[in-house]
Amino acid sequence: MRTANLSVEEKPMRTTSTLACTLAAALAGAACTGATTTGDDQGGDDDPIPTDEWDRRLGEREYDYSAALRIAALRLTGNLPTLAEVKAVADAGSLAAQKAVYESFVASYLDAPAFANQMVAFWRDTFKMGRSAMLDTAPVFAAQLTVENRALGELFTAATGTCPTFDAQAGTFTAADCQNGVTTHAGILTNPGVQAHFYSNMAFRRVRWVQEAFACTAFPAELTEVPIDLGTAQAYTAPWPFESISGLTNGGTVDFHDTSAVVCANCHATMNHLAPLFAYFDEDGQLQTTIQVQTPNEGAPDAKLTDWLPAGEATAWRYGVPVADLPALGAAMAADAKVAECAVARFWNFALGKGDIVDTLSIVPSEVIATQVAAFQSGGQTLRDAVFAVFTADDFVKF
Ligand code: HEC
Repeated sequence: MRTANLSVEEKPMRTTSTLACTLAAALAGAACTGATTTGDDQGGDDDPIPTDEWDRRLGEREYDYSAALRIAALRLTGNLPTLAEVKAVADAGSLAAQKAVYESFVASYLDAPAFANQMVAFWRDTFKMGRSAMLDTAPVFAAQLTVENRALGELFTAATGTCPTFDAQAGTFTAADCQNGVTTHAGILTNPGVQAHFYSNMAFRRVRWVQEAFACTAFPAELTEVPIDLGTAQAYTAPWPFESISGLTNGGTVDFHDTSAVVCANCHATMNHLAPLFAYFDEDGQLQTTIQVQTPNEGAPDAKLTDWLPAGEATAWRYGVPVADLPALGAAMAADAKVAECAVARFWNFALGKGDIVDTLSIVPSEVIATQVAAFQSGGQTLRDAVFAVFTADDFVKF
C-alpha cells in the first residue's frame, strides 16, 4: 500500500509528463525533450503539456499511405497488403496520387470475401456472442448490413431476413427469417440468439446489452441537468419522476426506490422502462405470451409488469421517447443520434486497434469523429461507407 501511495502522490508531475512524452513521441515519432514539459506553468498543477502543445504535435503528423495500407489491409482483410499493392502506393508519386491509390485499395478490400469474414468477427466481438448457429445470426446479420452497405437503422427495424447464414469460404450471406414466434421482427432486437444469450432476472441483461452495444455507454444512460438532492449520499440524477418506476410502495416487489447505498433509480429509471419489452422471450429466445423472466426474490417468482413500472406507466427508450413494442423501440433507436455516433465510434476503435468502447473505456470524443458522423447521418447511415470514411480519415492515414 505504502509503495503504491508514494509512487502516485510524490511524483505526479514526473509520472504524468513521462507518460505524456511517451505518448507524444509515439504519436509524432519525435524525441521527447524537456521542452514539452515546460511552458509557463507556475506551480505544480497537473497540466504538464498544454493543449496547444498536443495540437501542435498532432499537427506535426504526416501522411503515410504505406503505413496506413498495412493496417487497413490487416483490419479489413486479415492479411497484409500484397507486394504489388505496397509498391503501387510507394511508387504513386505525389501525395495526392498515393491517396488515390490507397483509397482504391481500401475500396477493393471492402469488396473482398475476406472483409465479410472480418465483419462477422467484428460484430461477434461487438455483440459478445457468436460461434453457434443461433448465436451467430445477430452478428452475421450486422455483418451482412455492413458488407451490403445498408443502413444502421435496419439493424433495429428490419422485419425480414434477420437470421441470415454465412458461408465463410465464399464470404456470402443467405437471408433467412428468425423462427422464434415473433410476428413483427425488429432487427436484432427480436433475435433469438440475443434473447437467449442475455437471458437473466427481469430481462436486465438484455437491456444492458442494448445500451452498451448501441449507445456505447454503461448505465446510467440518462442524466438530468439538475440532479435532485434526496438527502442521501447520492443525488437522483435521472430525468424521470422518481415514482415512475416501481418500488415497494407502489406495487413492486423489488425496491428500485432504495437510496440507502446507491440510488437504484439512477440506472433503473431508464432500465425499468425498457425491460418489459424484452420480458416475454424465454431462455431459448422464443417469444411467449406470458412473462418469462423472474425476480431475484425468495423462490424466484415470475416477474409481473408492476415489478418494473407502476400500473399505467408506459415503456420507453428514453425519457420523452415512449415505445410500445420492440419495432417501436427499433425505430426510436434508429432515429437516435447517439446510436449513430456509437456505430461510427465502434468502427473508429476497430480501425485504430482499440478495445471495446465500454469495457475498456476507449471513449472516442465526439469532436474527433464529427466529420465521419456528419457524413454518416447525411448519407443515410450506410455502414460500409462509414467503414471507408474511417479508414480514409486523416487520423487514420497520418502518423
Ligand atoms: C449503475 C447502475 C445500476 C444501479 C445503481 C443499480 N443497478 Fe440494478 N442492474 C444494473 C444493470 C446494468 C443490471 C444488469 C446486470 C447484468 O445482468 O449484466 C442490473 C440488474 C439488476 C437486477 C437483476 C439482477 C439479477 O438477479 O440478475 C436487479 C434485481 C437489480 N438490478 C436491482 C437493483 C436495485 C434494487 C438497485 C439499488 C439497490 C440497483 N439495482 C442499482 C444497473 C444498476
